Amino acid sequence: MVTTTTNVGALPLVPKNPIPLRRLVKLVRTLDIGQEAIRDAGGPISRITFGPKWLVRPIVAVTSPDGIRDVLSRTDALSERCIIHDEVRNMAGDSLFVLPTLSWQPRKRALQPVFTKHSVRNFSGQMSRAAESFVVRWRDGGAVDLDVECRRLTMQSLGRSVLGVDLTERADIIAEHMHVASSYTADRALRPVRAPRWLPTPARRRARLAVAELRKVTSEMLQKCRADPTLDAPLVHALIAATDPETGQALSDDDICNDLLIFMLAGHDTTATALTYALWALGHHRGVQDRVAAEAAAFGDRELTPDDVPRLGYTVQVLREALRLQPPAAGGARLTVRDIPVGGYRVEASTIMAVGIYALHRDPALWDRPLVFDPDRFSPETSRGRDRWQFIPFIAGPRSCIGEHFAMLETTLAMATIVRSLEIRSVDDAFPVAVPFTTVADGPIHACVSSRN
Ligand code: HEM
Repeated sequence: MVTTTTNVGALPLVPKNPIPLRRLVKLVRTLDIGQEAIRDAGGPISRITFGPKWLVRPIVAVTSPDGIRDVLSRTDALSERCIIHDEVRNMAGDSLFVLPTLSWQPRKRALQPVFTKHSVRNFSGQMSRAAESFVVRWRDGGAVDLDVECRRLTMQSLGRSVLGVDLTERADIIAEHMHVASSYTADRALRPVRAPRWLPTPARRRARLAVAELRKVTSEMLQKCRADPTLDAPLVHALIAATDPETGQALSDDDICNDLLIFMLAGHDTTATALTYALWALGHHRGVQDRVAAEAAAFGDRELTPDDVPRLGYTVQVLREALRLQPPAAGGARLTVRDIPVGGYRVEASTIMAVGIYALHRDPALWDRPLVFDPDRFSPETSRGRDRWQFIPFIAGPRSCIGEHFAMLETTLAMATIVRSLEIRSVDDAFPVAVPFTTVADGPIHACVSSRN
């Protein structure tokens, strides 16, 4: 853990990035590949200033494991939530994702036990069922759009796991509401100049309506669960029962609804992108795909369960490699509250620290042949000794993704279920993406599937 005992004042300021300002403006808004250009020109830590500090906050771009550790491992309140979190908070209320450190701590203490590796088994496994329905639909083979299929599958499984509701019928409309809400908040966060929040712009009104529609679903489910403790919605019941172990304080209805909403928002696009990219990559690497199929075939035809994951080690390696090459969250941002040391430099108070996950995961100084899809780099032997901060698709440190175990479990089971029964051939050479906030496939992602039997 980083402490504040370093004499921060004695450290040199982070060097300025040499790229001309006009180009930097564009690169900063290109959330994935922009990071690589910034890293290549300025090194693993560099400062970007668009004007005087009192007018525009400076940005420090960090892409080295050491620097990222210095930013993310802090447990004090000196490296805080910022821009995007503020916008999400304003739009969707106080949730685990957006709360500033001090008010976040009790919420995290209450929610953490619900999301341990052991606990997520209680509300996961829905992905196996959703993936099985994908297999049944495509048993006769044909041309599929992996983007559409994986989004549908994720919505179906997330609805069941998080809310205890079958969203299949409403999947498209819910996805549209989520898209409207998240792209509005991300777009605002990335604007150098923003319209005041009280101004009722059409985009803002649409986003508010979308959030209100989503909230209807969460509060309806919460009320149903409060009225009927036997209702099959284990995560909602777990949130009702959750208390802060230090104070015994339970979550309010508003807290629960906000968190359910954020689980849907934070979990949907990210999980769908991970699965789509992994299947697309398998569709180009038949040998790897056959190994995944053989691993899953060992379980016969029965539904795969969380108990099977320890024997799906290679499938997990494939997922990790997919998350390395195409991290659904390309980066993260924090705001310094005071001067702090990062990578041997001083980062001044009121600076936005941009952690570049995408550039970190593809850095030729850290990875051998970084652009090659090679799941063996995540074998136990090869992973041994790797810096813990070199691979961080879920971020790391105290504010890492609470849904990590859940997402890994769900995507592992889904991939194994699909590849066990269907052979996938990817049609497109490239995997086009859009990065409105998290990275999503800019579909269609064409593939041909055929039955393995
Ligand atoms: C492959 C799937 C996923 C990826 C790659 C991912 C990635 C991330 C990342 C990078 C963060 C840090 C964001 C930041 O600091 O600004 C985060 C936070 C978070 N994620 Fe995920 N996520 C995934 C799935 C999920 C799922 C399924 C859920 C919920 C069920 C979830 C809920 C959250 C929440 C609530 C936070 C905020 C945690 C906190 O601040 O304490 N995520 N996620």
